[in-house]
Amino acid sequence: MDTHSNLQPPFTLAYIPETSSTISYLKSLHQTGNAHEYTVAATDYQTAGRGQRGNTWEAERGKNLLFSLLLEPAFLAANKQFLLSQAVSLAIKEELEHYANGFSIKWPNDIYWREKKICGMLIEHDLQGNHLQLTSAGIGINVNQIRFSPGLPNPVSLSQITGKAHDRLPLLQAILDRLLKYYRMLQGGDIARITGRYEEALFRKGIMAPFADGQGTFMGQITGVRPNGMLAVKDSTGKERLYAFKEVSYVL
Ligand code: BTN
Repeated sequence: MDTHSNLQPPFTLAYIPETSSTISYLKSLHQTGNAHEYTVAATDYQTAGRGQRGNTWEAERGKNLLFSLLLEPAFLAANKQFLLSQAVSLAIKEELEHYANGFSIKWPNDIYWREKKICGMLIEHDLQGNHLQLTSAGIGINVNQIRFSPGLPNPVSLSQITGKAHDRLPLLQAILDRLLKYYRMLQGGDIARITGRYEEALFRKGIMAPFADGQGTFMGQITGVRPNGMLAVKDSTGKERLYAFKEVSYVL
């Protein structure tokens, strides 16, 4: 990827060799009128890449996909915002399935290969009244990185999975193409198809496995995800527990 790289319409690429975070870069472009719906800010290196829960996102220079996409989903009610997470997660997972089996979506929106994380995302929304106005979807996919810092719990890259190096620009375009299909589905109100596929793609769906919540660890089985994004887990007594983001974690 370089300053001459382009994407197919409706996407436009705003490539920058290095930035603090593509999310901040995209927002600053938007504030100056230089980013619109379907603008993709991508970089080779982030000096302050942001992860979930206030963590940082580390990625070796020039090896991975680090990008943020701007959407203007004014058609979507604020309480349906999780559908965008589902759409983005499905697009990435399905494109990765071109290369290997074993990918799943770890609720709410990590992409896993077997028990390892290949992709994380941070999706931020601005609201106008009770509708969405602006969404910045910041996505990090480990593509060609082979060595990770030992502090990271369970990273994996596409290259480690396939044993090959991969061109990042075509991969980015293919993911965006899939995402556009899901976005059109959302615009058309075809919500059931998205939530159905998302539930099918869930990591550990229907498998008894250990979880941890505020009360401690317990054995449970994911039964599904509510429209507002809450995870439903049936514990070993048969009781269904509902969790919002960060209220439950998987014990890996
Ligand atoms: C996570 O912790 O799983 C979320 C990671 C999100 C990382 C991506 S990389 C591109 C974009 N810019 C950032 O600063 N973060 C996201």
